[in-house]
Amino acid sequence: MKGLVLSGGKGTRLYPLTYTRAKQLIPVANKPILIRVIEAIRDAGITEIGIVTGDTAPEIQEAVGDGSRWGAQVTYIPQEAPLGLAHAVKISRDFIGDDRFVMFLGDNVIQGGISPLIADFAHHPEWNSQIVLTTVEHPEQYGVAELTPDGRIARLIEKPKQPPSNLALVGIYMFDHHIFQATEEIKPSFRGELEITDAIQWLIDHGYSVFPHIHKGWWIDTGRPDDMLTANSLVLDELRPEILGTVDASSLVDSRVTVERGAEIINSVVRGPAIIGENTRIVNSYVGPFTSVYHDVVIENSEIERSIVLEHSIIRDLPTRLHDSLIGRHAVVGVSGVRPKAIKIHLGDYSRLELI
Ligand code: DAU
Repeated sequence: MKGLVLSGGKGTRLYPLTYTRAKQLIPVANKPILIRVIEAIRDAGITEIGIVTGDTAPEIQEAVGDGSRWGAQVTYIPQEAPLGLAHAVKISRDFIGDDRFVMFLGDNVIQGGISPLIADFAHHPEWNSQIVLTTVEHPEQYGVAELTPDGRIARLIEKPKQPPSNLALVGIYMFDHHIFQATEEIKPSFRGELEITDAIQWLIDHGYSVFPHIHKGWWIDTGRPDDMLTANSLVLDELRPEILGTVDASSLVDSRVTVERGAEIINSVVRGPAIIGENTRIVNSYVGPFTSVYHDVVIENSEIERSIVLEHSIIRDLPTRLHDSLIGRHAVVGVSGVRPKAIKIHLGDYSRLELI
């Protein structure tokens, strides 16, 4: 089997973080989501992986390289524009050949990996496709499946206004080569994309076997800032803690905290689950549960919880605790001390600042 990871698209819902960075490269518990996806596929025994890329191809290639760091051989498949998930499949035909494959959306995080799913599909060569479904609160934001009373798929609809069920399509799909014919036959949807839901519906309508697998653990499509924070909390909750940096005698670090190499915790309290990245300094501060601080950050005389701080940022002398926050790269948050007393901000486009 081969793996196909979709890492094109625009990431507009995560502006401003994704103005300058591919959304798939935003770290969750200090590891980019795309790397988590590659590791999940590799852990299922698949090492030949194609990555579909769009405008952000250069930074994705820089981060992943040839994949050998993760025990994979990566082939890049450039997509001229985000013309839909089925379009991404269509242009991957040369890479896939006649192999069966798993397609994994590069912005999805799933509990428990995909090894059992891959094994299931491998043991059923008669299945043409297998899709993963899970119950969600807002099915209208996803592809939705309607099942027959005996549990087979009756119908798939992309982002329906009136969802027929609360079973959403998780961004993990298994296919054999018949999907290529489907991507040739379908037409673009109202939003101008070749929808993978339509391609799978084509398989069903033409008598091919598509089996549902109901996923019971958590799953997050990290499309929006709140989803990123939720995914971060869920992954941190399962992280095996490790102290590789230094913690001084006047600091208190919880048992569920990872302190990466070169990080320093000085006169501070860190409550887990949390992760402090390489060469980051936490000084006279409090880092609360469900916080990921990436590498080369400074947090001084401040308090923060349930947040993600990206690399090379500085948070200093905050008069109030930061929470539920996403801080981008090279950001500076602090108090200048220069009179007159006023708020001075340099916010990027689409930024959000909420003061109480
Ligand atoms: O996350 C699950 C949902 O993913 C499913 O429930 C939906 O049925 C499916 O259509 C998809 O919906 P999204 O609106 O979340 O898809 P999005 O545009 O965010 O794209 C998902 C990933 O695929 C993302 O990493 C970008 C990439 N992509 C997307 C398009 C449209 C491509 O590489 N090429 C594309 O043309």
